[in-house]
Amino acid sequence: MAETEFPYLSAETTEDIEIPRNPLEQVIGQDEAVKYCKIAALQRRHVLMVGPPGTGKSMLAQATAYCLPKPEHEISVLHNPENPEHPIIEILSKEQILREKKLAKQLEGRLVDAREVPSFVAERLGYRCRRCGKLSRPQDGACPSCGMDKYANESSPFGDLLFPHMPTGQKTRVHTTRSTEDGHEEIIVYEGAGEKIRVMDQVSLEKLDLQKRKAPRKTIIPLNRKNFVVATGASETELLGDVRHDPYGGHAQIGTPPYTRVVAGAMHDAHEGVLFIDEISSLHNIQRFLLTAMQEKKYPIVGRNPQSSGASVRVDDVPCDFVLMAASNINDIPYILPPLRSRIIGNGYELLLQTTMPDTAANRQRLAQFVAQEIKKDGKIPPATLAAVEAVIAEARRRAKKVDGAEDALTLRLRELSGVVRLSGDLAVTEHAPLIDEGMIARSIIRSKNIEEQLSERYGSVWNANKSEIISTEPHRDQKEIR
Ligand SMILES: Nc1ncnc2c1ncn2[C@@H]1O[C@H](COP(=O)(O)OP(=O)(O)OP(=O)(O)O)[C@@H](O)[C@H]1O
Ligand SMILES: [Mg+2]
Repeated sequence: MAETEFPYLSAETTEDIEIPRNPLEQVIGQDEAVKYCKIAALQRRHVLMVGPPGTGKSMLAQATAYCLPKPEHEISVLHNPENPEHPIIEILSKEQILREKKLAKQLEGRLVDAREVPSFVAERLGYRCRRCGKLSRPQDGACPSCGMDKYANESSPFGDLLFPHMPTGQKTRVHTTRSTEDGHEEIIVYEGAGEKIRVMDQVSLEKLDLQKRKAPRKTIIPLNRKNFVVATGASETELLGDVRHDPYGGHAQIGTPPYTRVVAGAMHDAHEGVLFIDEISSLHNIQRFLLTAMQEKKYPIVGRNPQSSGASVRVDDVPCDFVLMAASNINDIPYILPPLRSRIIGNGYELLLQTTMPDTAANRQRLAQFVAQEIKKDGKIPPATLAAVEAVIAEARRRAKKVDGAEDALTLRLRELSGVVRLSGDLAVTEHAPLIDEGMIARSIIRSKNIEEQLSERYGSVWNANKSEIISTEPHRDQKEIR
């Protein structure tokens, strides 16, 4: 590639540098990892990313989720009339959900004004006064115009004594017939629906009754959900789900039915998406639950607290077909369960992230893109000049050599470098400057030195600093004991 192909060189500020829309293309210098993350998204494989802090592991995981198709299924738990403590799982595809929605819409019938229905229907449903013919709301017992009791039972003068709680003459549904054009009789049902009246034919009525008889359900994993679920440091309950306690033990009358108390875990929430676990080794023993889930692609939800009434509830076969994206620092690799690693290797990739990249024109262009990205992501700092970008590149070169001992290379420990960009941005903001310039980058580099670097500069080395600290202060009791 010729130098002219690197647009940052002709840019005036970072605002002129194009930022790719695809988040995987925003990941800089980890081309191999990006390639396999793309494959993992396409083929639904698991990934373990290993690398030092701030090299893009979380970024890669999030970007992989972006490449996955949107979830296609919704998962609900259904009341099980035969055994309420074993609710049944129901999986509906997007198409089925759409069909159900359409049906529900049809079943709603047509909502009309009380004026549009035959007057005897409006009277029986309580929308019209039988004496003066004025319309009013069905909940008004007496006609607001002439004061007549709309619901007085004409057939029995003692109706209100016999059924004191019930408006005697009120109907919630009225059935009538009408002749169709081809001479058939058709049943029409009118139903009170708030201010309006619902008109239904017999077919939709039967469907509605069928619908009402369906088992009650609770959707635990909705169709419209995020496909990136973070389970870093999750507890057993957070990862595997739970059944909440009911002080009335799910009693049929006063308790809460078990199916309503079922809560999905992160692994179920991540069904069809990415389950991201940073520092996977910190899950310790909980890692072993992932093994079954990854193999079976389903995991039961049970009440996890033995003292709780939820403990007797169990929902089998709850789907959890996730793409595991786990991250680890190099030092923690021995604490990742070997069978978990074996499952990742057997059905995915272990990726070692780069810490530096060669100092080529193409990679300098990518670092310029990185600076533009960081400024845009921050949202509170102004763009940087080209000279400022060059200063960041020079610092990336210096850090590659100092931290990783790499010659002619640029660092990929980019979180720290993004700290420099942000600090310079803050300088620009506090100094009311319209752009971040190279002077601000230089000052931020000095400011962004970590404590060890600051100690080395002041005392010559961290060791010297330690010595001077010990001499100048009375040793702490614990320190004396240690000595
Ligand atoms: N390869 C990269 N390309 C572009 N930006 C990066 C890259 N690596 C890090 N960054 C920047 O640094 C920030 C932190 O990176 P990220 O959180 O992905 O690091 P990490 O490897 O997950 O670190 P940790 O081990 O501390 O969790 C990102 O939000 C991004 O701004
Ligand atoms: Mg991270």
